[in-house]
Amino acid sequence: MANVSLRNIDIAYGPVTIVKSLQMEIADGEFTVLVGPSGCGKSTILRLIAGLEPHSGGDIFIDENNVSAANPADRNVAMVFQNYALYPNMTVFENISFGMKIRKIDATEIDHAVREVAKMVGLTDHLHKRPGRLSGGQRQRVALARAIVRHPKVFLFDEPLSNLDAEFRASIRLELRQLHKKLGATMIYVTHDQVEAMTMGDKIAVLAPIAVKGTHNLMQYDTPEVIYSKPTNLFVARFIGSPKMNTFEAESSGQATIRIGDQDIAVKVKRPLPSKVIVGIRPEHVVVGAHAEGPTITGRVAVTENLGHERLVFTETKIGPITQRASDQTVCPTAGDELELTLLRHRLHFFDAVTEERIEMVSDAP
Ligand SMILES: Nc1ncnc2c1ncn2[C@@H]1O[C@H](COP(=O)(O)OP(=O)(O)O)[C@@H](O)[C@H]1O
Ligand SMILES: [Mg+2]
Repeated sequence: MANVSLRNIDIAYGPVTIVKSLQMEIADGEFTVLVGPSGCGKSTILRLIAGLEPHSGGDIFIDENNVSAANPADRNVAMVFQNYALYPNMTVFENISFGMKIRKIDATEIDHAVREVAKMVGLTDHLHKRPGRLSGGQRQRVALARAIVRHPKVFLFDEPLSNLDAEFRASIRLELRQLHKKLGATMIYVTHDQVEAMTMGDKIAVLAPIAVKGTHNLMQYDTPEVIYSKPTNLFVARFIGSPKMNTFEAESSGQATIRIGDQDIAVKVKRPLPSKVIVGIRPEHVVVGAHAEGPTITGRVAVTENLGHERLVFTETKIGPITQRASDQTVCPTAGDELELTLLRHRLHFFDAVTEERIEMVSDAP
Protein backbone atom coordinates (compact mmCIF):
# COMPACT_ATOMS: atom_id res chain seq x y z
CA MET A 1 0.00 0.00 0.00
CA ALA A 2 1.10 3.54 -0.54
CA ASN A 3 0.54 7.22 -0.14
CA VAL A 4 -0.23 9.33 -3.20
CA SER A 5 0.89 12.89 -3.58
CA LEU A 6 -0.42 15.21 -6.29
CA ARG A 7 1.79 18.28 -6.45
CA ASN A 8 0.54 21.30 -8.31
CA ILE A 9 -1.02 19.36 -11.18
CA ASP A 10 -2.27 21.09 -14.35
CA ILE A 11 -4.14 19.24 -17.09
CA ALA A 12 -5.30 20.80 -20.35
CA TYR A 13 -6.93 19.56 -23.54
CA GLY A 14 -5.37 21.82 -26.15
CA PRO A 15 -6.14 25.37 -25.04
CA VAL A 16 -8.79 24.26 -22.54
CA THR A 17 -7.67 23.92 -18.92
CA ILE A 18 -9.49 21.11 -17.10
CA VAL A 19 -7.49 20.83 -13.89
CA LYS A 20 -5.36 23.55 -12.35
CA SER A 21 -2.98 23.71 -9.37
CA LEU A 22 -4.26 20.47 -7.84
CA GLN A 23 -2.59 19.68 -4.51
CA MET A 24 -3.50 16.55 -2.58
CA GLU A 25 -1.67 14.40 -0.05
CA ILE A 26 -3.44 11.06 0.22
CA ALA A 27 -2.18 9.05 3.16
CA ASP A 28 -1.35 5.36 3.09
CA GLY A 29 -4.47 3.29 3.74
CA GLU A 30 -6.87 6.20 3.46
CA PHE A 31 -10.23 6.06 1.68
CA THR A 32 -10.46 9.32 -0.25
CA VAL A 33 -13.53 10.39 -2.19
CA LEU A 34 -13.34 12.85 -5.07
CA VAL A 35 -16.78 14.40 -5.42
CA GLY A 36 -18.10 17.11 -7.70
CA PRO A 37 -20.58 17.77 -10.48
CA SER A 38 -20.30 16.03 -13.83
CA GLY A 39 -17.50 17.45 -15.98
CA CYS A 40 -15.38 18.89 -13.15
CA GLY A 41 -12.43 16.59 -13.94
CA LYS A 42 -12.83 13.65 -11.54
CA SER A 43 -12.24 10.90 -14.13
CA THR A 44 -9.39 12.92 -15.61
CA ILE A 45 -7.65 13.00 -12.21
CA LEU A 46 -8.05 9.22 -11.73
CA ARG A 47 -6.68 8.58 -15.21
CA LEU A 48 -3.79 10.88 -14.36
CA ILE A 49 -2.89 8.79 -11.31
CA ALA A 50 -3.23 5.60 -13.36
CA GLY A 51 -0.90 7.01 -16.01
CA LEU A 52 -3.53 7.16 -18.74
CA GLU A 53 -3.69 10.95 -18.91
CA PRO A 54 -0.82 13.33 -19.67
CA HIS A 55 -0.42 16.47 -17.56
CA SER A 56 1.14 19.77 -18.46
CA GLY A 57 2.43 20.73 -15.02
CA GLY A 58 3.27 19.32 -11.61
CA ASP A 59 4.28 15.90 -10.33
CA ILE A 60 2.65 12.70 -9.11
CA PHE A 61 4.32 10.71 -6.37
CA ILE A 62 3.38 7.22 -5.27
CA ASP A 63 5.29 6.70 -2.04
CA GLU A 64 8.66 8.36 -2.57
CA ASN A 65 8.69 7.72 -6.31
CA ASN A 66 7.96 10.39 -8.85
CA VAL A 67 5.80 8.45 -11.34
CA SER A 68 4.97 11.44 -13.54
CA ALA A 69 6.62 9.81 -16.52
CA ALA A 70 6.08 6.16 -15.55
CA ASN A 71 4.07 3.76 -17.72
CA PRO A 72 0.65 2.70 -16.38
CA ALA A 73 1.91 -0.88 -16.00
CA ASP A 74 4.78 0.26 -13.76
CA ARG A 75 2.63 2.23 -11.33
CA ASN A 76 0.97 -0.76 -9.72
CA VAL A 77 -2.46 0.84 -9.45
CA ALA A 78 -5.76 -0.88 -10.27
CA MET A 79 -8.80 0.88 -11.65
CA VAL A 80 -12.44 -0.20 -11.36
CA PHE A 81 -14.86 1.50 -13.73
CA GLN A 82 -18.60 2.10 -13.83
CA ASN A 83 -19.02 -0.22 -16.82
CA TYR A 84 -17.14 -3.26 -15.43
CA ALA A 85 -15.17 -3.89 -18.68
CA LEU A 86 -15.32 -7.69 -18.30
CA TYR A 87 -14.50 -10.19 -21.04
CA PRO A 88 -17.94 -11.55 -22.03
CA ASN A 89 -16.61 -14.88 -23.38
CA MET A 90 -14.62 -15.75 -20.28
CA THR A 91 -15.94 -17.22 -17.06
CA VAL A 92 -15.73 -15.29 -13.82
CA PHE A 93 -12.69 -17.40 -12.89
CA GLU A 94 -10.98 -16.58 -16.20
CA ASN A 95 -11.84 -12.89 -15.91
CA ILE A 96 -10.29 -12.69 -12.45
CA SER A 97 -7.22 -14.74 -13.35
CA PHE A 98 -6.53 -13.24 -16.78
CA GLY A 99 -3.75 -10.91 -15.66
CA MET A 100 -2.02 -13.66 -13.66
CA LYS A 101 -2.20 -16.03 -16.60
CA ILE A 102 -0.57 -13.45 -18.86
CA ARG A 103 2.21 -13.16 -16.30
CA LYS A 104 2.58 -16.96 -16.50
CA ILE A 105 1.95 -17.54 -12.83
CA ASP A 106 1.72 -21.17 -11.76
CA ALA A 107 -1.79 -22.67 -12.13
CA THR A 108 -2.05 -23.85 -8.51
CA GLU A 109 -1.12 -20.42 -7.27
CA ILE A 110 -3.68 -18.79 -9.59
CA ASP A 111 -6.38 -21.18 -8.39
CA HIS A 112 -5.60 -20.41 -4.77
CA ALA A 113 -5.52 -16.62 -5.29
CA VAL A 114 -8.75 -16.53 -7.30
CA ARG A 115 -10.65 -18.63 -4.76
CA GLU A 116 -9.45 -16.51 -1.89
CA VAL A 117 -10.51 -13.26 -3.57
CA ALA A 118 -13.80 -14.77 -4.78
CA LYS A 119 -14.60 -15.66 -1.20
CA MET A 120 -13.80 -12.13 -0.09
CA VAL A 121 -16.29 -10.57 -2.52
CA GLY A 122 -18.94 -13.34 -2.39
CA LEU A 123 -18.40 -14.91 -5.83
CA THR A 124 -17.42 -18.44 -4.81
CA ASP A 125 -20.58 -19.97 -6.28
CA HIS A 126 -20.32 -18.05 -9.54
CA LEU A 127 -16.76 -18.76 -10.72
CA HIS A 128 -17.88 -20.98 -13.62
CA LYS A 129 -20.42 -18.48 -15.00
CA ARG A 130 -20.02 -15.99 -17.82
CA PRO A 131 -20.66 -12.28 -16.98
CA GLY A 132 -23.89 -12.35 -19.03
CA ARG A 133 -25.47 -14.59 -16.39
CA LEU A 134 -24.62 -12.28 -13.49
CA SER A 135 -26.49 -9.36 -11.97
CA GLY A 136 -25.01 -5.86 -12.16
CA GLY A 137 -23.83 -6.09 -8.58
CA GLN A 138 -22.12 -9.43 -9.21
CA ARG A 139 -20.39 -8.09 -12.34
CA GLN A 140 -19.06 -5.18 -10.32
CA ARG A 141 -17.76 -7.71 -7.78
CA VAL A 142 -15.89 -9.48 -10.57
CA ALA A 143 -14.28 -6.20 -11.59
CA LEU A 144 -13.39 -5.61 -7.96
CA ALA A 145 -11.96 -9.13 -7.57
CA ARG A 146 -9.83 -8.61 -10.66
CA ALA A 147 -8.36 -5.50 -9.04
CA ILE A 148 -7.81 -7.11 -5.61
CA VAL A 149 -6.04 -10.17 -7.00
CA ARG A 150 -3.31 -7.90 -8.37
CA HIS A 151 -2.42 -6.53 -4.90
CA PRO A 152 -2.07 -3.00 -6.24
CA LYS A 153 -0.53 -0.19 -4.23
CA VAL A 154 -3.55 1.99 -4.93
CA PHE A 155 -7.15 1.23 -5.92
CA LEU A 156 -8.91 3.74 -8.16
CA PHE A 157 -12.71 3.62 -8.47
CA ASP A 158 -14.55 5.64 -11.11
CA GLU A 159 -18.24 5.80 -10.13
CA PRO A 160 -18.35 2.01 -9.76
CA LEU A 161 -21.86 1.92 -8.32
CA SER A 162 -23.73 4.23 -10.66
CA ASN A 163 -25.02 1.41 -12.88
CA LEU A 164 -26.55 -0.40 -9.92
CA ASP A 165 -30.01 0.11 -8.50
CA ALA A 166 -30.44 1.89 -5.19
CA GLU A 167 -30.74 -1.21 -3.00
CA PHE A 168 -27.58 -2.79 -4.43
CA ARG A 169 -25.71 0.49 -4.19
CA ALA A 170 -26.30 0.75 -0.46
CA SER A 171 -25.14 -2.83 0.22
CA ILE A 172 -22.06 -2.69 -2.03
CA ARG A 173 -21.16 0.68 -0.50
CA LEU A 174 -21.03 -1.04 2.87
CA GLU A 175 -19.09 -4.03 1.49
CA LEU A 176 -16.52 -1.73 -0.09
CA ARG A 177 -15.95 0.02 3.23
CA GLN A 178 -15.50 -3.32 4.97
CA LEU A 179 -13.15 -4.48 2.25
CA HIS A 180 -11.15 -1.29 2.66
CA LYS A 181 -10.77 -2.02 6.37
CA LYS A 182 -9.78 -5.63 5.73
CA LEU A 183 -7.19 -4.80 3.06
CA GLY A 184 -5.95 -1.59 4.70
CA ALA A 185 -5.63 -0.34 1.15
CA THR A 186 -5.23 3.16 -0.24
CA MET A 187 -8.43 3.77 -2.18
CA ILE A 188 -9.43 6.77 -4.27
CA TYR A 189 -13.09 6.79 -5.14
CA VAL A 190 -14.85 9.10 -7.60
CA THR A 191 -18.54 9.93 -7.41
CA HIS A 192 -20.90 12.79 -8.23
CA ASP A 193 -23.16 11.61 -5.41
CA GLN A 194 -22.64 13.58 -2.22
CA VAL A 195 -24.36 10.90 -0.10
CA GLU A 196 -21.78 8.34 -1.27
CA ALA A 197 -19.04 10.84 -0.51
CA MET A 198 -20.31 11.57 3.00
CA THR A 199 -20.86 7.93 3.92
CA MET A 200 -17.71 6.42 2.43
CA GLY A 201 -14.85 8.86 2.70
CA ASP A 202 -12.25 9.17 5.45
CA LYS A 203 -11.47 12.33 3.54
CA ILE A 204 -13.49 14.12 0.87
CA ALA A 205 -12.11 16.30 -1.89
CA VAL A 206 -14.85 18.56 -3.26
CA LEU A 207 -14.06 19.59 -6.83
CA ALA A 208 -15.64 22.27 -9.01
CA PRO A 209 -15.26 22.94 -12.72
CA ILE A 210 -12.34 25.30 -13.28
CA ALA A 211 -14.78 28.06 -14.33
CA VAL A 212 -16.09 28.40 -10.75
CA LYS A 213 -12.89 29.91 -9.29
CA GLY A 214 -10.65 30.16 -12.34
CA THR A 215 -7.51 29.40 -10.36
CA HIS A 216 -8.12 25.87 -9.01
CA ASN A 217 -10.67 23.02 -8.88
CA LEU A 218 -10.16 21.75 -5.38
CA MET A 219 -12.66 23.61 -3.21
CA GLN A 220 -12.16 21.75 0.06
CA TYR A 221 -10.26 18.67 1.17
CA ASP A 222 -11.13 17.46 4.64
CA THR A 223 -13.12 14.96 6.70
CA PRO A 224 -16.86 14.61 5.99
CA GLU A 225 -17.60 16.22 9.37
CA VAL A 226 -15.62 19.39 8.64
CA ILE A 227 -16.93 19.65 5.07
CA TYR A 228 -20.50 19.46 6.36
CA SER A 229 -20.14 21.73 9.37
CA LYS A 230 -17.67 24.29 8.00
CA PRO A 231 -17.95 24.47 4.23
CA THR A 232 -15.17 26.69 2.98
CA ASN A 233 -17.27 28.47 0.36
CA LEU A 234 -20.78 28.65 -1.11
CA PHE A 235 -20.06 26.02 -3.75
CA VAL A 236 -19.26 23.41 -1.09
CA ALA A 237 -22.09 24.60 1.16
CA ARG A 238 -24.64 24.08 -1.60
CA PHE A 239 -23.14 20.91 -3.07
CA ILE A 240 -22.93 18.87 0.14
CA GLY A 241 -26.19 18.19 2.00
CA SER A 242 -29.64 17.17 0.88
CA PRO A 243 -31.94 19.03 0.94
CA LYS A 244 -29.54 21.85 0.24
CA MET A 245 -28.45 24.43 2.78
CA ASN A 246 -30.83 27.43 2.80
CA THR A 247 -29.05 30.58 1.67
CA PHE A 248 -30.14 34.21 1.46
CA GLU A 249 -28.53 37.60 1.11
CA ALA A 250 -28.25 39.89 4.11
CA GLU A 251 -26.78 43.31 4.89
CA SER A 252 -24.13 43.69 7.50
CA SER A 253 -24.86 46.74 9.59
CA GLY A 254 -21.78 48.07 11.29
CA GLN A 255 -18.77 46.03 12.34
CA ALA A 256 -20.21 42.94 13.85
CA THR A 257 -23.93 42.62 13.21
CA ILE A 258 -25.86 41.08 10.37
CA ARG A 259 -29.49 41.91 9.67
CA ILE A 260 -31.68 38.84 9.24
CA GLY A 261 -35.38 39.63 8.74
CA ASP A 262 -36.09 42.36 11.30
CA GLN A 263 -33.34 41.33 13.68
CA ASP A 264 -29.69 42.30 14.03
CA ILE A 265 -27.55 39.31 14.88
CA ALA A 266 -24.28 39.98 16.65
CA VAL A 267 -21.40 37.93 15.30
CA LYS A 268 -17.83 37.55 16.49
CA VAL A 269 -15.77 37.86 13.34
CA LYS A 270 -12.02 37.62 12.91
CA ARG A 271 -11.95 40.37 10.29
CA PRO A 272 -14.34 43.24 9.45
CA LEU A 273 -17.51 42.07 7.69
CA PRO A 274 -18.11 42.82 4.02
CA SER A 275 -21.26 44.91 3.47
CA LYS A 276 -23.13 42.12 1.69
CA VAL A 277 -23.20 38.70 3.23
CA ILE A 278 -24.79 35.40 2.22
CA VAL A 279 -26.27 33.69 5.24
CA GLY A 280 -26.67 29.92 5.18
CA ILE A 281 -28.48 27.48 7.44
CA ARG A 282 -29.06 23.77 7.02
CA PRO A 283 -32.70 22.55 7.06
CA GLU A 284 -32.21 20.62 10.34
CA HIS A 285 -31.04 23.82 12.06
CA VAL A 286 -34.33 25.60 11.47
CA VAL A 287 -37.00 25.00 14.15
CA VAL A 288 -40.71 25.71 14.21
CA GLY A 289 -41.89 28.50 16.53
CA ALA A 290 -40.38 31.69 17.96
CA HIS A 291 -37.39 30.90 20.16
CA ALA A 292 -34.65 32.88 21.85
CA GLU A 293 -31.92 30.81 20.16
CA GLY A 294 -31.96 32.83 16.96
CA PRO A 295 -33.77 35.16 14.59
CA THR A 296 -37.41 34.32 13.87
CA ILE A 297 -38.87 34.63 10.38
CA THR A 298 -42.55 34.30 9.52
CA GLY A 299 -43.85 32.84 6.31
CA ARG A 300 -46.46 30.72 4.62
CA VAL A 301 -46.04 26.99 4.13
CA ALA A 302 -45.90 26.09 0.44
CA VAL A 303 -45.45 22.30 0.57
CA THR A 304 -44.71 19.61 3.13
CA GLU A 305 -43.19 16.18 2.55
CA ASN A 306 -43.49 13.34 5.00
CA LEU A 307 -40.71 10.80 4.48
CA GLY A 308 -41.61 8.66 7.49
CA HIS A 309 -38.35 9.04 9.41
CA GLU A 310 -38.44 12.79 8.93
CA ARG A 311 -40.57 15.51 7.44
CA LEU A 312 -39.68 18.53 5.36
CA VAL A 313 -41.54 21.84 5.35
CA PHE A 314 -41.00 24.33 2.53
CA THR A 315 -41.99 27.85 3.55
CA GLU A 316 -42.04 31.11 1.58
CA THR A 317 -40.70 33.94 3.74
CA LYS A 318 -39.71 37.51 3.04
CA ILE A 319 -36.04 36.55 3.01
CA GLY A 320 -36.76 33.77 0.52
CA PRO A 321 -37.83 30.11 0.56
CA ILE A 322 -36.75 28.14 3.66
CA THR A 323 -36.63 24.37 3.92
CA GLN A 324 -37.02 22.98 7.41
CA ARG A 325 -36.31 19.42 8.43
CA ALA A 326 -37.46 17.68 11.59
CA SER A 327 -37.40 14.08 12.70
CA ASP A 328 -40.43 14.36 14.97
CA GLN A 329 -43.91 14.06 13.54
CA THR A 330 -45.65 16.03 16.31
CA VAL A 331 -45.62 19.51 14.79
CA CYS A 332 -46.59 18.99 11.18
CA PRO A 333 -47.82 22.17 9.56
CA THR A 334 -49.86 21.94 6.36
CA ALA A 335 -49.66 23.91 3.14
CA GLY A 336 -51.14 27.39 3.52
CA ASP A 337 -50.36 27.65 7.26
CA GLU A 338 -48.75 30.79 8.63
CA LEU A 339 -45.54 29.64 10.29
CA GLU A 340 -42.84 31.07 12.52
CA LEU A 341 -39.38 29.64 11.98
CA THR A 342 -36.34 30.21 14.15
CA LEU A 343 -32.86 29.95 12.61
CA LEU A 344 -30.57 28.57 15.31
CA ARG A 345 -27.97 31.30 15.51
CA HIS A 346 -25.01 29.11 16.46
CA ARG A 347 -25.70 27.07 13.32
CA LEU A 348 -25.65 30.00 10.90
CA HIS A 349 -22.98 30.08 8.19
CA PHE A 350 -21.79 33.37 6.67
CA PHE A 351 -20.19 33.89 3.27
CA ASP A 352 -18.86 36.99 1.55
CA ALA A 353 -21.46 37.79 -1.16
CA VAL A 354 -18.71 38.83 -3.60
CA THR A 355 -15.98 36.22 -3.11
CA GLU A 356 -18.40 33.51 -1.87
CA GLU A 357 -15.77 32.47 0.68
CA ARG A 358 -16.71 31.50 4.23
CA ILE A 359 -16.46 34.34 6.75
CA GLU A 360 -14.59 32.91 9.68
CA MET A 361 -16.06 33.42 13.10
CA VAL A 362 -14.07 33.45 16.32
CA SER A 363 -15.84 30.20 17.24
CA ASP A 364 -14.51 28.60 14.03
CA ALA A 365 -10.98 28.72 15.40
CA PRO A 366 -9.30 25.34 15.36
N1 LIG B 1 -10.30 13.65 -24.49
C1 LIG B 1 -10.83 14.82 -24.16
N2 LIG B 1 -10.70 15.90 -24.98
C2 LIG B 1 -11.22 17.11 -24.65
N3 LIG B 1 -11.92 17.34 -23.52
C3 LIG B 1 -12.10 16.31 -22.68
C4 LIG B 1 -11.58 15.00 -22.94
N4 LIG B 1 -11.92 14.18 -21.92
C5 LIG B 1 -12.62 14.95 -21.04
N5 LIG B 1 -12.73 16.21 -21.49
C6 LIG B 1 -13.38 17.33 -20.79
O1 LIG B 1 -12.76 17.46 -19.53
C7 LIG B 1 -13.70 17.83 -18.53
C8 LIG B 1 -13.59 16.88 -17.36
O2 LIG B 1 -14.00 15.59 -17.76
P1 LIG B 1 -14.09 14.37 -16.74
O3 LIG B 1 -12.80 14.21 -16.03
O4 LIG B 1 -14.59 13.20 -17.50
O5 LIG B 1 -15.21 14.90 -15.72
P2 LIG B 1 -16.00 14.10 -14.57
O6 LIG B 1 -15.41 12.74 -14.46
O7 LIG B 1 -15.82 14.94 -13.35
O8 LIG B 1 -17.44 14.10 -15.00
C9 LIG B 1 -15.05 17.82 -19.20
O9 LIG B 1 -15.41 19.15 -19.46
C10 LIG B 1 -14.83 17.04 -20.46
O10 LIG B 1 -15.69 17.53 -21.48
MG1 LIG C 1 -16.30 10.87 -14.82
